[in-house]
Amino acid sequence: MGLCSFQSCRFRVTVILCILLIHQVMTENTNKIQSANKSPQLSGYVLNNISFSILQPWQQFCYINDLPKQDKPGEYYIEIICNVNSNVLNFLDFRRFTSRIQENILFSVVITCGHNGSVFFPYPGRARLLQSLRISNCVLNGFTSEATSDVIDSITDRIKYFTLVNSVLFMSQNDFRQFQRAKHLTKAFQCGNVNAVKIIEYNISCWIGNVSKRVRLETYQSRPNFQDRTCTYTYLRHLQKSFSIIQPFTRQIDKSIYPNIEMLNFSAASIIETPKHVQEWRLESKGLKYLDLSHNLIEDVFPIICHDRINDNTTKGFVDLSYNNISSLRLYGVTKWFRETCDKLTVDIRNNPFLCDCGVKHFQDLLQKYVGNHTASSSWYMLRRKRIFSRYKYLYDLTCYNPPSLRGRIISKLSLSEIGCKPKLRIVTNVPTGPIIVVMFVSFFLSVCLFVGIRYREQIAVSCSTWLK
Ligand SMILES: *[C@@H]1O[C@H](CO)[C@@H](O)[C@H](O)[C@H]1NC(C)=O
Ligand SMILES: *[C@@H]1O[C@H](CO)[C@@H](O)[C@H](O)[C@H]1NC(C)=O
Ligand SMILES: *[C@@H]1O[C@H](CO)[C@@H](O)[C@H](O)[C@H]1NC(C)=O
Ligand SMILES: *[C@@H]1O[C@H](CO)[C@@H](O)[C@H](O)[C@H]1NC(C)=O
Ligand SMILES: *[C@@H]1O[C@H](CO)[C@@H](O)[C@H](O)[C@H]1NC(C)=O
Ligand SMILES: *[C@@H]1O[C@H](CO)[C@@H](O)[C@H](O)[C@H]1NC(C)=O
Ligand SMILES: *[C@@H]1O[C@H](CO)[C@@H](O)[C@H](O)[C@H]1NC(C)=O
Ligand SMILES: *[C@@H]1O[C@H](CO)[C@@H](O)[C@H](O)[C@H]1NC(C)=O
Repeated sequence: MGLCSFQSCRFRVTVILCILLIHQVMTENTNKIQSANKSPQLSGYVLNNISFSILQPWQQFCYINDLPKQDKPGEYYIEIICNVNSNVLNFLDFRRFTSRIQENILFSVVITCGHNGSVFFPYPGRARLLQSLRISNCVLNGFTSEATSDVIDSITDRIKYFTLVNSVLFMSQNDFRQFQRAKHLTKAFQCGNVNAVKIIEYNISCWIGNVSKRVRLETYQSRPNFQDRTCTYTYLRHLQKSFSIIQPFTRQIDKSIYPNIEMLNFSAASIIETPKHVQEWRLESKGLKYLDLSHNLIEDVFPIICHDRINDNTTKGFVDLSYNNISSLRLYGVTKWFRETCDKLTVDIRNNPFLCDCGVKHFQDLLQKYVGNHTASSSWYMLRRKRIFSRYKYLYDLTCYNPPSLRGRIISKLSLSEIGCKPKLRIVTNVPTGPIIVVMFVSFFLSVCLFVGIRYREQIAVSCSTWLK
């Protein structure tokens, strides 16, 4: 009897669970349909006694994407999606909204603009409870409006994911003059989102005043000269950055510390030379896996210094220097790639405008010496050679860009005469012989003098002194 009632009880519980489940699925479905229709739900939305009507100004552009997700019990995660067309969205509305909310809700905000849609956005976009922010295709106003306001540093920074892409900073001439005159900038403005795990900032151009041409701010000549600040990004694993509003690009990288970084992407960032900081491979950033410097204007292969220990169990790493402006194949730094400490690293210099002159011979010798197929005595040595070969066999396929007569030719296969290396004998016969003979005579005479001088020191001292009189 007792057993029976227990079973029926369990049955009833199952049914209730089922009903609950169905109900949940149904509400989820209606929710999906609503978000597909992009019906604005902000004003009517109430969660944990918070009415989203406070976010009223955002209502016409934004909707809540999904059911609030619960990561931990009692903690919610809400995604707000906004599409702004020929209108202005004010980030400060969102900040005001979150300043009144209890702690257990985190927000993700995704703003996409079109048709000159713009956002009033004081960098770096600080607001309580904001965990993820993405802005794309927007005109950004007020970007520097809080650059000197210390109140910003007092707002708790919980941003983990920050993305700002394909946008235009709009600064009036007045904004810009004010920014230039600033003596002091906040940490928030100078360093950005230091608690983030992933930061992506690229293809940001700048309109200043009525300058009709879009200029990249980092090429703007009259850049203000602020005090340097060392920014430490303790949690950052992925950084993709192609612009810096404050400093010339390389210095900005130099001053930052990324102890846990795995991916540094400075592709297409108009970098002219390799930042000193990144030449030390894995000195500070032990977990670095990928350094992307492709599509820049770098002209030199830097002498990279590897800090992996030999027989370390660290993962493989990659430095991408492809699509730069490297022309010299003297490649001062390349021999360092073949050191044992660099065994975990591959450097890519494909698609650069290599100049094929006599200096290329040096490169060919280098290939022979380090990358070629040699038979070696020790098997350990063979293994290392094999590893180098598998990483760098692409070097055999590099092609010339200049001179035009050799464009597209494979460098490793060029003959000495094709690269214009003249045999040594011809060089000697080409030099005029007159001066050489004179020099030979002079040096012979001097060495005889020296010999005679040492051998007959005393005698000469006497005779010389009389002669000098
Ligand atoms: C919800 O808010 C109202 C008024 O704002 C308040 O009276 C009520 O106690 C709140 N309820 C909870 C559960 O916080
Ligand atoms: C955006 O604004 C500029 C200048 O005000 C105008 O020339 C351009 O046509 C606008 N573009 C769109 C898509 O509205
Ligand atoms: C860069 O952003 C602008 C809008 O600001 C966009 O029109 C352009 O296509 C973007 N360029 C790339 C390469 O994505
Ligand atoms: C734009 O700049 C030019 C000179 O730089 C100036 O003559 C003109 O008045 C400016 N126009 C506006 C609308 O500010
Ligand atoms: C770096 O960023 C560029 C776009 O800016 C992208 O095309 C490239 O794939 C990225 N590199 C890596 C290694 O992900
Ligand atoms: C490398 O070895 C150390 C100790 O020898 C170990 O603590 C670490 O987890 C290893 N790392 C990997 C990626 O295997
Ligand atoms: C590439 O380097 C050459 C010199 O090696 C220089 O003349 C040229 O201006 C550079 N190109 C760019 C786009 O900077
Ligand atoms: C190296 O040797 C292998 C097999 O012995 C051969 O297939 C390959 O073409 C050689 N590579 C070069 C660059 O000589």
